[in-house]
Amino acid sequence: MIRIGICGGTFDPFHNGHLTLITSALDSGRIDSILVIPAGTPPHKMSEPVMPAIYRYEMTRKSLRDVAHTEVTELEILKEGRSYTLDTVMMVKAKYHDDVEISLVYGSDIINDLEKWHEPAALLAECKMLLAVRGGDDHERVKQEADRLSKKFNTIIDLFAAPQIELSSTELREKIISGTKWQKLVPKGAESVISHNGFYSLLKYYQKLTENDRIKLASLEREIWPYLNHKRMIHSANVMLYSLMLADLHDVDLMQAATAGLLHDCAKCLPHDELIGYAQTAGDDLLLEDDLAHGPAGAVMARDLFGVTDPAVLRSIHYHTTGCSDMTRLDKIIFLADKIELGRTYDDLDPIREAAVSNLNRAMLLCLSEVEAYLRRSSKLSHPYALAAVDSLR
Ligand SMILES: [Fe+2]
Ligand SMILES: [Fe+2]
Repeated sequence: MIRIGICGGTFDPFHNGHLTLITSALDSGRIDSILVIPAGTPPHKMSEPVMPAIYRYEMTRKSLRDVAHTEVTELEILKEGRSYTLDTVMMVKAKYHDDVEISLVYGSDIINDLEKWHEPAALLAECKMLLAVRGGDDHERVKQEADRLSKKFNTIIDLFAAPQIELSSTELREKIISGTKWQKLVPKGAESVISHNGFYSLLKYYQKLTENDRIKLASLEREIWPYLNHKRMIHSANVMLYSLMLADLHDVDLMQAATAGLLHDCAKCLPHDELIGYAQTAGDDLLLEDDLAHGPAGAVMARDLFGVTDPAVLRSIHYHTTGCSDMTRLDKIIFLADKIELGRTYDDLDPIREAAVSNLNRAMLLCLSEVEAYLRRSSKLSHPYALAAVDSLR
């Protein structure tokens, strides 16, 4: 029988406290491996916004890449509706045909709340608990409580020693946003995901969305997840946040911008035939080439698979690769955010980023001329839609 620990959390961000909890649990010898489960965005009252799942998943995955006996799973991210720990435990048990002993791994502070959890008796009938006792904890009291609850629920609540790491995710996010010495507080993997994509710096725009809208976006993120690889998911979330910022600055509907930004590349990873099939449905013969077809194909997918009915959103997805004549502010925002989101590392993005803050048309012209120069270097011609965009912007 294999002994598996389960460690869940929002991991927003994944930090050194999480890492030492996981490694100490493995070092305790009470489990053979540990399954780490970033939470999906819970579809109920969230006290504060939780960043898109792909960031939290990638920070966790990259931080644990070199830690033996760990596995990061998308189980809860991909689950529709609220995830209860009991459901997760049962899914893991089913995967191992019940030939598994599961321990939930937490800090010992949860011991005070355990009886208030959703159906603790049913949960603890299916698994054990493995709780970290840290330097500052009252060992004697934790031990007494663990014994009392073990008896009450007829389970085993084991304790293990872990180093004391005082880290609040809220404070850590604030440090990241203000750029004050945060890099050593998170594992290298998380640091690179945060530094490369800069998403916490755009958190304040994400916070401007209503809770309902964030829940809608989280469920769209879950729906497109199976269609995209992780890199493309990160880019999509980056475009969503950058679009939100530009929408806020230029008085465009935030939810239209976020939706189009998140979905703009939803067709990008489709197998070729499927991609062209969707693109043909859109009926735009000028956008059927390999690099361009995912625009119209994405708009069709957004409408037919993900329930987007707003024509303005669909149009901005359709034309996001080339631009077009008479672009709306939303079209420009999606076009630009795609090219200059914070994860992009092309040369000469700064002037476009600066222009985009104050003048979308100027940013568009700069960006289109960069694209044209790039095409010229590859001996390609500008697309007729891009030329039309330049004409109408002038
Ligand atoms: Fe694209
Ligand atoms: Fe894109």
